[in-house]
Amino acid sequence: MYTQLEQRHSPRPPVNLGTLRRMKAEGEKIAWLTAYDASFAMLVDMAGVDVVLVGDSLGMVIQGHETTVPVTMDDIVYHSKAVARGLGRPFLVADMPFMSYPTRELALSNAVRLMQEGGAKMVKLESGSGQLGIVEFLARHDIPVCAHIGLRPQTVHKVGGFKVQGREAEAAAQMLTDAHGLQEAGADIVLLECVPATLGAQIAKELEVPVIGIGAGPDVDGQVLVLYDILDLTPGRKPRFVQNFMEGAPSPLAALEAYVKAVKDGAYPAPEHCF
Ligand code: KIV
Repeated sequence: MYTQLEQRHSPRPPVNLGTLRRMKAEGEKIAWLTAYDASFAMLVDMAGVDVVLVGDSLGMVIQGHETTVPVTMDDIVYHSKAVARGLGRPFLVADMPFMSYPTRELALSNAVRLMQEGGAKMVKLESGSGQLGIVEFLARHDIPVCAHIGLRPQTVHKVGGFKVQGREAEAAAQMLTDAHGLQEAGADIVLLECVPATLGAQIAKELEVPVIGIGAGPDVDGQVLVLYDILDLTPGRKPRFVQNFMEGAPSPLAALEAYVKAVKDGAYPAPEHCF
């Protein structure tokens, strides 16, 4: 019983929300990566990554779809179970896929699946002002929530492509309001995708909860990238914020260690990765 507490004084105690809050307070950058199977989960853990995300990006990098829209709850549960078996120290977050949270009740039962079947410690959902009630409902039921704002890939067909968000003053102000609203609704982490670096910095400074960026500049509390992108496993043109950490690395583990180091010491993201 309470093995987490027993491991508190071990050299590699498991990461939990308290750890992530402390890291923000102390200015230690939080290194996230996606993973989709047990072998990579073990490697990512060995490299010192703090948080592992079973992202619905698996629809693109594993299943070969053009978007994340076809990913189902069963897909995420399957990959989350595999990742959970490979992890020791990192905190495991799983994505709520497209249309798995259209109502409060469905959101809650799907979040419970990700935690009970998939082994996730937190769920992430693409959220705007329209999802405030859902985030509040999940938080009220003690589900740890990461709210994903900025570019929300599940809306790709509605928005008409993958575009940087919050460039205009009005859109930036709305995003800041949404971020505060989501924190107030009970989100424990806010993830910002593809926003100008100045907006990323402002949101991270104003919020109490950790703010994690992907293409959101250096002045947020941590970074996340897609594993297959940083290991250069995905062919074709990469988003501007991606860095190929395999370049000059003797092994995938060395590349992952270089990513963690670059996030921790602030070398990644560099100006060329920012909007
Ligand atoms: O699905 C995913 O991998 C994500 C990250 C890109 C943040 O949401």
